[in-house]
This record gives sequence, structure tokens and C-alpha cells, in this order.
Amino acid sequence: MKLLQDTVRREGIVLNDQVLKVDAFLNHQIDPAFMLAVGKQFADLFAEEAITKVVTIESSGIAPAMMTAMQLQVPLLFARKHKSLTLTSDIYTETVYSYTKQVSNEITVSKKFLHPTDNVLIIDDFLANGEAAFGLARIVEQAEARVAGIGIVIEKSFQPGRQKLLDAGYRVESLVRIASLEKGQVTFVENNVM
Ligand code: G4P
Ligand code: NA
Ligand code: NA
Repeated sequence: MKLLQDTVRREGIVLNDQVLKVDAFLNHQIDPAFMLAVGKQFADLFAEEAITKVVTIESSGIAPAMMTAMQLQVPLLFARKHKSLTLTSDIYTETVYSYTKQVSNEITVSKKFLHPTDNVLIIDDFLANGEAAFGLARIVEQAEARVAGIGIVIEKSFQPGRQKLLDAGYRVESLVRIASLEKGQVTFVENNVM
């Protein structure tokens, strides 16, 4: 199925050699039928993993994570980017630096919702340097839960995130892998899942 590649080609806008704008179907306007297909694909890929919870970061991770959680019939938990009003003793916190946006975000998750028995699937919209995925993984590990894998909608394979996550021992499944955004063109890595 080449649905995601076709959607990226049709609706994606190459802003520069580093950044692909996907406001038409993923980061601003969301196509629910398309997102359902994304969720089914992740659920199939991780079907053997006995996932107990899907974890992402607000805001753009929530839509694909929600569809995945629905298919797997487990809860979706999203890390918040703003300090919550809850006592800090009740939350896990990690700092995530964005190279793309050149800002650091504190991400937080309530201790109530992650337990050592959890087997977690991390989902995110983009993988660039891997900072967001590592931040989420560190939060899961603070809770002494297990990271079963990381599911990414769009991987920019020319950036180092995938290799860093693989080197750290995580299973990474990206639905499309972009080899290059040079000359205003999207070039895919071969053998894309979607
Ligand atoms: P990393 O986590 O892999 O290191 O990525 P990075 O810091 O570079 O990404 C920071 C933010 O920028 C994330 O969104 C990520 O989804 C987004 N991003 C990275 N590369 C691209 C790209 O090529 N196109 C688009 N559209 N977004 C990209 P965020 O800050 O968490 O924002 P939100 O949209 O989830 O609210
Ligand atoms: Na994101
Ligand atoms: Na984003």
C-alpha cells in the first residue's frame, strides 16, 4: 500500500532541504480516514508485542497515536509540553530539545498513568533527531515500564534520529522514510511500509 507516500507527494510541501510541511493531513488539518489507515498499520506492525499503552507528545502525535490505541484497544497517554499545576512529585519530567525549532520543552506525564507492568508503544508524527522519542522513552523508563517499540509516521532518514534509536536498542518502525528533500523534491527510501 502506497497511500502514505502518495499523500506526502500530493499534499506535502518541501519548505527547504530539512523541513516538509504536512499541514494538509497531519499537523493542522487531519484526514480521519487516512489517519485510521495509519493506526491500523501501526497496530499490525506491533500486533505481537502485547502493548498495554500508546504514548506520544502533544499535539501532532495525538491523532496517529489515538488511531493506533483504538485498534490495539489500549489507552492513549500523551505527554504535555507545559508544566502542569500538579505537584512535581506526582509527575515524570524530561527535557526535550528541538533542533528544528531550537527550543527546549519540558515534557511531563502524571505518575498515575504509567506503571512497571506497562509495555509501551511510542508513536510520533515525525522522526528527525530523535529527541522527542528519546524523551518519551526516558519517561517510560523512569516509570520502570518497558518500551516495546517506536512507531513514526514520517521519518527523515537523512537526519540521525533513526540510527540513534536503533543503536540504543529500540525497535523503530517508520511508515514512510524520506531519503532527501533536496531540490524541492521528496525522495523516498525504498521499501516503505505505507
Ligand atoms: P526530533 O524530536 O526527532 O529530534 O525532532 P525535532 O526536535 O527536530 O522536531 C521538533 C518538532 O518539529 C516536532 O514537533 C516535530 O514533529 C517537528 N518536525 C521535525 N521535522 C519536521 C518536518 O520536516 N516537518 C514538520 N512539519 N514538522 C517537523 P513539535 O514541536 O512536537 O510540534 P507539534 O506539531 O507536535 O505540536
Ligand atoms: Na511531534
Ligand atoms: Na510536529
